[in-house]
Amino acid sequence: MTLVEPAVSIRGAIEVPGVKGICQRGVLLGAVADGETEIRGFGRAADTQSAIDVVRQLGVEVTDVGDEVVRVHGVGLHGLRSSPEPLDCGNAGTVMRLAAGILAGQSGTFTLVGDESLSSRPQERIAVPLRALGATVETTDGHAPVTISGGSLHPIRHELPVASAQVKSAVLLAGLFASSGPTEVLEPAVTRDHTERMLTAMGVRVAREPGKVSVWPAERLQPLSIDVPGDISSAAPFIAAATLLTDSELHIRGVNVNATRTGFLDVLERMGGRVAVYNRRSLGGEPVADLEIRHAELIATNVDAQEVPLLVDELPLFCLLAAMARGDSVVRGAADLRAKETDRIETTTEALRGIGAHIKATEDGFHVRGVPARLRGGVVNSRGDHRIAMLGAVAGLASREGVELLGAESVNVSLPGFFDLLAQIQETTVMDRSVRRTE
Ligand code: S3P
Repeated sequence: MTLVEPAVSIRGAIEVPGVKGICQRGVLLGAVADGETEIRGFGRAADTQSAIDVVRQLGVEVTDVGDEVVRVHGVGLHGLRSSPEPLDCGNAGTVMRLAAGILAGQSGTFTLVGDESLSSRPQERIAVPLRALGATVETTDGHAPVTISGGSLHPIRHELPVASAQVKSAVLLAGLFASSGPTEVLEPAVTRDHTERMLTAMGVRVAREPGKVSVWPAERLQPLSIDVPGDISSAAPFIAAATLLTDSELHIRGVNVNATRTGFLDVLERMGGRVAVYNRRSLGGEPVADLEIRHAELIATNVDAQEVPLLVDELPLFCLLAAMARGDSVVRGAADLRAKETDRIETTTEALRGIGAHIKATEDGFHVRGVPARLRGGVVNSRGDHRIAMLGAVAGLASREGVELLGAESVNVSLPGFFDLLAQIQETTVMDRSVRRTE
């Protein structure tokens, strides 16, 4: 059990580790590139390690050069070795689904497995299009273990039933191996585009128009040499904390502000949040900026289906902000939150209700009645979900009585340094702050 005590404010400057999804994609795509990919600013976490473990098992050499640099010695598009042992993706949905897309184009049979949480998540959503492309894919009642026998693939046009960057990416990656092109994916709402950007940087022909992405078969992938910007999903808990606590002023440097990822900032701005985005530049083929966050009094807002994918992993934090804002907020069109690391409609509602928030789960989202005051506090169980653990910690800082956090260690899935970063910037007494100011 970890006790998170109420804090007075958040002050200081931090950086957060590289975008998890870019690190995972860099490892998986680098594995089938021709030659050496170097990923700098690699965010070490259980989920990125799962990507490394999987490609190593497929015969790819990965060298750790210090803590933040990883080199992947690519074996070429068709060079992966089939593995007699199942490939363990741990907690990482992105690794399982994107690896499935690549494995659909390899010869041999591969089995993907995951931890208890990943094994309960739906996988027919990738199996259906990969079968249509020509691979043999078996799921276990729709879940992992997923067994894939690569086939000779042909292009498809796939309409995503759910807006999912993971499924879109799995289809696009399999499309690289199709006999002719293009493979087309139609999406009901814009989702993160890291895969498209990286494939383009690797020399693949990718065409994008509103609601549709097409990829042409590739003969080879050029290896990447990239600097990964900070992950906005890892920055979000600190942004929320600085917004909620009076007198806060937080700087977060080098954050990825790809428009398919910044829904949390857009929604926060509508609520009256004070986030300045400055020093815009480009890094590793992605837009980056520095953020300055100050405390703000918030007003309620709604989030609908079109906006959901742009802040999908930040919706639990949005609910916390909404619970402390003036007015009622509604989230609709977010039913897929039920298929995340936990059923996040239930786990977010359980966590916030348990500490005094007025929040109701609906089939596809939340109703939150905001009260502009600190939450009471109490016990939050992360249920093994990293995003819920971070939600509980931020809620504890902004509560009257603090939060007893069960399962705090699940932050290791995406951000092992979370509590250290928090300790660096939180001020627990007014005295604390005046001491620091007179230094
Ligand atoms: C991810 C996409 C999202 C997100 C997940 C990471 C990715 O999932 O929730 O944490 O790296 O593509 P979906 O695409 O299934 O919504």
